[in-house]
Amino acid sequence: MSEISIRGVQIIQGALSPEAQKTLVAALREVTRQAPLFSPMTPYGKPMSVQMTSAGRFGWYSDRSGYRYRDRHPNGQAWPSIPVGVLNLWRQLVSAERDPDCCLINFYKEKARMGMHQDRDEADFSWPVLSVSLGDDALFRIGNRTRGGKTESIWLRSGDVAVIGGEARLVYHGVDRIRPGSSSLLAKGGRINLTCRVVT
Ligand code: SIN
Ligand code: MN
Repeated sequence: MSEISIRGVQIIQGALSPEAQKTLVAALREVTRQAPLFSPMTPYGKPMSVQMTSAGRFGWYSDRSGYRYRDRHPNGQAWPSIPVGVLNLWRQLVSAERDPDCCLINFYKEKARMGMHQDRDEADFSWPVLSVSLGDDALFRIGNRTRGGKTESIWLRSGDVAVIGGEARLVYHGVDRIRPGSSSLLAKGGRINLTCRVVT
C-alpha cells in the first residue's frame, strides 16, 4: 500500500487486497442483479459510454432533464444497500460519523471513457468523494477547479482508492481510457469504478 497526492486528490494504491477485491465484486454482482446496469443519456442527448447503477439511499441519474439523484432505479425499485466492504472503506478513510448516501457503480467496457467533469450535484462539498477502482487499469485525468488548464494523469489500478476532498473536492476529473486485459479480476474484463458520496 502506498499513498500519493496529485493536486490534492489522495490516492491510496493497493488499498484493497486481491481477496478484498474479489469479495467486493461478488457483493456488486448481487447489487446489479437487483438494480441492473443501464446506459444513461446525457442532458445533451448522447448516451454515456459507461453503464451504471447505484446502491444506497440515492442513485445518481442522468437524462434529457439533467443530472440528479433519484431514490429509485429506473425499474421503480429502491436502490439496494451499499455493500459492507465499501462502507468499511468509507468509515476508515472518510468518516466513521456518517455513511455515504450513494454508491454509484460505473462499468467501463473496453471503449468506455468519462469526459472531464466536476462532482457537484451534492448539497455539501465539505464531504469528500471516495472512489474505488476494480478491474482493468484506467487513465485518470485531474485538472483544476475551473474547466481547462493543465492537467495531470495517473493510471488507477484494481484495488486503488482515491479520496477527493478538501481543496480537491471540486476539481475537474475524467477517465481518458481503460487498458483492456490489464486485470484478471473480472472474468469478462472491463473496469468497475465505485463513487461514494454524501448527497443531502
Ligand atoms: C467518475 O468521476 O464518475 C468516475 C471516475 C472513475 O471512473 O475513476
Ligand atoms: Mn466524477
